[in-house]
Amino acid sequence: MKIAVVGAGLVGSAWAIVFARAGHDVAVFDAAAGGAARAATLIEARLRDLEAAGLVASAAEILPRISLAATLAEAVAGASYVQESVFETVEQKRLIFSALDAVLGPETLVGSSSSGIPASAFTEHVACRARCLIAHPVNPPYLIPVVELVPAPWTGPDVVPRVRALMEQVGQEPVALTREIEGFALNRLQGLLLAEAFRLVAEGIISVADLDRTVSAGLGLRWSFMGPFETIDLNAPGGVADYARRFRGMYETIAGARGVELGWDDGLIAEVERQRRAALPDSELAARSAWRDRRLMALMAHKKDESGKA
Ligand SMILES: NC(=O)c1ccc[n+]([C@@H]2O[C@H](COP(=O)([O-])OP(=O)(O)OC[C@H]3O[C@@H](n4cnc5c(N)ncnc54)[C@H](O)[C@@H]3O)[C@@H](O)[C@H]2O)c1
Repeated sequence: MKIAVVGAGLVGSAWAIVFARAGHDVAVFDAAAGGAARAATLIEARLRDLEAAGLVASAAEILPRISLAATLAEAVAGASYVQESVFETVEQKRLIFSALDAVLGPETLVGSSSSGIPASAFTEHVACRARCLIAHPVNPPYLIPVVELVPAPWTGPDVVPRVRALMEQVGQEPVALTREIEGFALNRLQGLLLAEAFRLVAEGIISVADLDRTVSAGLGLRWSFMGPFETIDLNAPGGVADYARRFRGMYETIAGARGVELGWDDGLIAEVERQRRAALPDSELAARSAWRDRRLMALMAHKKDESGKA
């Protein structure tokens, strides 16, 4: 399958590695003079690092799958999918989607790496808009697999599932949002954590270093292999509903003091419980806790091994 990467800065170059690593032919286009050549140097260096780390078998086998296109039309000709990664402004995104619209094949899908601008802000005017969506990576996507897929109101119903399948095939971990929301999911979560971190520092409650340690030596350890819902599901004997019964009052007080309504009503807790029990039956909670502890042991062994190294 041919993939086009349009805009080959930090993120575009990283995407080229993701698709080529999975066996696809990748055509890279960058509008800046020397932009694609710069990207080629970066891609080669990163592939060699990945090989040294044992994460790809052979950089030399992957590199020839990546080619530099002289024009946008050449890059997208015959491509099944385009990953757009140009500058993050509405104006630049609108311009590149107009340009893409003029040269895109009739079946080609386009994902934008946009960090926060929704696709409706820059695809409304193009004929191909039903084939466009957000495919937001975390940098660098060849090491951090999550990709947020966010449809615009006019994105075709089959587009998210098709891009989801492609992302899975290339080894990413796509997550799908049902509709646009500012910051998507990842940056909304990060934003909430940062907001409270800044407030606690502003109030003189904790130093910046100790706040960071609260995450790096605390919350973040479990988060490297499970999310916040699974974390609390395993932190009360009866699972997430039991956790909510025990701790909802505390979180309500905290939220109330910040002028926010917590909103964990009984119906919502029941829905979270229903989704968690579908993922992990009651009878497997204890085994999963033991699994969590083994993952933590492996992580602690890794951190111990790394301590003292630059
Ligand atoms: N850097 C991150 O951590 C990160 C993470 C996730 C998503 N993103 C998103 O990815 C996109 C790219 O970000 P980046 O950090 O790689 O930026 P960057 O500045 O490193 O790269 C942008 C590249 O796009 C090229 N470009 C600009 N206009 C173009 C055009 N019309 N046609 C072809 N190429 C063009 C530029 O020459 C440049 O090489 C942005 O939307 C950004 O928000 C960035």
